Amino acid sequence: QTASSPAKSGDLLVYQDGPRKGQVVKVADLKEGTAVWAQAVDPATKKPRDAVKSGVVIVRLKPSEIKASSQKNAVNGVVAYSDICTHQGCQAKELGSLGQGKGNIICTCHGSIYDPRDNATVLGGPAPRRLPALPLKTDAAGELVAAGEFTGKVGPK
Ligand code: FES
Repeated sequence: QTASSPAKSGDLLVYQDGPRKGQVVKVADLKEGTAVWAQAVDPATKKPRDAVKSGVVIVRLKPSEIKASSQKNAVNGVVAYSDICTHQGCQAKELGSLGQGKGNIICTCHGSIYDPRDNATVLGGPAPRRLPALPLKTDAAGELVAAGEFTGKVGPK
């Protein structure tokens, strides 16, 4: 593990905003076809390792939709990716509901589209590369826990 990694194995994921802000995300809280935004936090301090780069978008999918590329990082149909767009670093803050964006992670700054079923591959827009995945596992309480570091560099090059 690298000292500067914005998420590490064993980190908990807590809601970034909304009524559950600061609470740990549980698989049972997540509805299929929806996304929530969270931050990976150090379980010892409950603080993110990086205020921006520890952000993730968590998507619950139908398990049958998850492509082989995403299987190893998923748990119970749930996948997580860095929410920092690889184009210019805006937060990718939407799950699309219409047209090409349907069910996909969207950065509205310039319209990049990432497929959460296929390891966040880029489907459209100017993003030069996929969002790094955060491998997931669950603990005995059904809470989501990082099973490793992000699979690539977070944010733009
Ligand atoms: Fe996300 Fe440009 S910063 S599309």
